[in-house]
Amino acid sequence: MPSALPDGEPVPSDGSLPDHALAGLGERPFGFYVHVPYCATRCGYCDFNTYTATELRSSGTVASQETYADNLIAEIRLARRVLGDVELPVQTVFLGGGTPTLLPARDLVRMLAAIRDEFGLAADAEVTTEANPESVDPAYLSELREGGYNRISFGMQSARPHVLTLLDRHHTPGRPEACVTEARAEGFEHVNLDLIYGTPGESDDDWRASLDAAIGAGPDHVSAYSLIVEDGTKLAARIKRGELPMVDDDVHADRYLIAEEALAAAGYAWYEVSNWATTPEGRCRHNELYWTGADWWGAGPGAHSHVGGVRWWNAKHPAAYAQALAEQRTPAQGREVLPTEDRRVERILLELRLREGCPLSLLAPAGLRAAERALADGLLDRAAYASGRAVLTLQGRLLADAVVRDLVD
Ligand SMILES: C[S@@+](CC[C@H](N)C(=O)[O-])C[C@H]1O[C@@H](n2cnc3c(N)ncnc32)[C@H](O)[C@@H]1O
Ligand code: SF4
Repeated sequence: MPSALPDGEPVPSDGSLPDHALAGLGERPFGFYVHVPYCATRCGYCDFNTYTATELRSSGTVASQETYADNLIAEIRLARRVLGDVELPVQTVFLGGGTPTLLPARDLVRMLAAIRDEFGLAADAEVTTEANPESVDPAYLSELREGGYNRISFGMQSARPHVLTLLDRHHTPGRPEACVTEARAEGFEHVNLDLIYGTPGESDDDWRASLDAAIGAGPDHVSAYSLIVEDGTKLAARIKRGELPMVDDDVHADRYLIAEEALAAAGYAWYEVSNWATTPEGRCRHNELYWTGADWWGAGPGAHSHVGGVRWWNAKHPAAYAQALAEQRTPAQGREVLPTEDRRVERILLELRLREGCPLSLLAPAGLRAAERALADGLLDRAAYASGRAVLTLQGRLLADAVVRDLVD
């Protein structure tokens, strides 16, 4: 089951924002995230805010996929009212899930058209959708491309059948690679493959084979995430019962090194700890917008937004979300104004994971002492440090979470 949302402060029923949040709107990059909370089946490791038809039926609610795009479009119109008529061309749009491609392609195109109609898209806007490899075909991809999508991200995870089975993934090995070819043929400029390493039962060789298969397909972007065992998932329960082994940190570190070696040799450069691209243009600009504290509106159940230091989040369940919009209320359920100190800490947390690193001037005295130690231990780059930035070395990327924890002190 998806994890719980924070409480936060109440949000006015029209969703209006304080003036200080709206100040400077349009001077910072602005993006749109659209959450699609449906999956055909739930993968045993995933605690994202997503629901299968069976889960929706058993909760006794009618939150139908058929009307989803209409609700979402109602929220896009609400966003325009809340943000006012300031010039706000959208730089990036990202449809994530769940499985956006479980909806008909025309719904994805309609949602994008509503964003374009209300806000306008920047001339070079990046428009991405996530897709499960088993849920698309050339006709579907063609409709998306014609409707304005220019980037697509496929959840490949692994090339090994036994790893896919353990993860409850239902595509056949080889299908994600074929998706890359199909997406390119339909004219998608940018294509990503998502991989997972550290699945119980995966060997180093399995991981190398997955990397080789992904690289061989020729996407211009690869994301590689270690498998997180989330509380409350089927995977966590199986590990707790002793049915599956817990994979230790050393294995994750070894797999990361294998990934870096294979990807770098094939011309992929890291630009965030878990993300590699063949060119600067191939980087995911939408994620960069999150990592650099820009403004974005997150539409859909459970989606988070951030505008000018105010963060808010929508009701999680698709039925509660639909109900709010049907009653002409904001679906936002809580919000918080980020204190300056929290914003500083957040900047360190996010920017330190980037290839450009974070300015040393962001660090408090204790954080600076920790940075000196990390430098002495070879976890931070000497040349970057001398020019005033904390940038992780390869060794530092292996221990990124620990380094970040120390530097935010
Ligand atoms: C939430 S999914 C949404 C897109 C699509 N449904 C898919 O699975 O590719 C986005 C990515 O998050 C990854 N993910 C979800 N739960 C994870 C976990 N516990 N550990 C690592 N990656 C995870 C998925 O494998 C997927 O590649
Ligand atoms: S398909 Fe993606 S979003 Fe759906 S359960 Fe699996 S990992 Fe989560």
